[in-house]
Amino acid sequence: MREKIKALTQQVDEFKVESKELLETFRLRFLSKKGEINQLFNDFKTVLPEDRKEIGMLINQLKKKAQEKFEQSSTSFSQGATKSHQHEDLTKPVNQQEIGARHPISIVRNEISEIFSRIGFTVAEGPEIENDWHNFSALNFPEEHPARDMQDTFFVNKNPDIALRTHTSSVQVRVMESEKPPIRVIAPGRVFRNEAISARAHCIFHQIEGLYIDKKVSFVDLKQTLFYFAKSYFGEGTKIRFRPSYFPFTEPSAEMDVSCNICGQKGCNVCKYTGWLEILGCGMVDPNVLKSSGLDPDKYSGFAFGMGIERIAMLKYNINDLRLYFENDLRFLKQFKSVM
Ligand code: DAH
Repeated sequence: MREKIKALTQQVDEFKVESKELLETFRLRFLSKKGEINQLFNDFKTVLPEDRKEIGMLINQLKKKAQEKFEQSSTSFSQGATKSHQHEDLTKPVNQQEIGARHPISIVRNEISEIFSRIGFTVAEGPEIENDWHNFSALNFPEEHPARDMQDTFFVNKNPDIALRTHTSSVQVRVMESEKPPIRVIAPGRVFRNEAISARAHCIFHQIEGLYIDKKVSFVDLKQTLFYFAKSYFGEGTKIRFRPSYFPFTEPSAEMDVSCNICGQKGCNVCKYTGWLEILGCGMVDPNVLKSSGLDPDKYSGFAFGMGIERIAMLKYNINDLRLYFENDLRFLKQFKSVM
């Protein structure tokens, strides 16, 4: 009998009550009516009278031990349950679904389009796979112009007449071919150049082309339109300046800078300590381009401009690596919020 009590005491001690199910197993095995301890009480009848006092005490100790263990475990389980229950705040709103944000390139494109739409420009589109005529020839690129070189242009299927457009200026030609002046369009879109990818260059990027054709359009109209854009986009106090330049499809041609509002023209690493940021190329549409597109240069004149959307977005958001636009890293993309 003593041996049996000792063995059971050890079993009670060693039993690991790790779950509610095991707690119930423990109870059935030791504490229930048909459990081991009650069985001991039944066997007690056979114990010799002189041993009864001692054995009775041992059985009672065992019973007490098993009961305490049972109670401790069961309160710890129910406390655990109420604890986790208390942690739930039922007044909390449900888990919020994350809402996506527009891509910074789309935001900038939409903002620029909106500014030009206020002064009568509509959006035009053209194909990304373009022929030589619309991308080069009609735009007055001489036959041997380096921009036609394999290094810059992605040609399609070894057909030198078909290529991925290298600029959105191709849309100018398509619009002039199909519409009658007055023409006032902007053409945002993707362009492709065979360039090694780096922080400053990419083989895919975006441009916005602008075109205005009517009778008696002059350089004054060009300046005033772009001045309006610069003020609307970069802020009221923005200054602009034009530097003479060359493009085959405009004559005269210029590049436009805006005053650097990052440093207030004091000089910073974004404007490379010049106080000015180069943002676009522009000029008066070359009479040859008008002719190629079916318009009479004696009757009509116009201006055109083109800017890189990535560059404008870089200036606006102080982004220093072009590759970020194409990596689809949510940590980058989440930072841009816009109503546009
Ligand atoms: N197409 C030129 C480029 O990709 C940008 C450009 C410059 C467009 C002058 C124009 C313009 O319309 O007048 O670099």
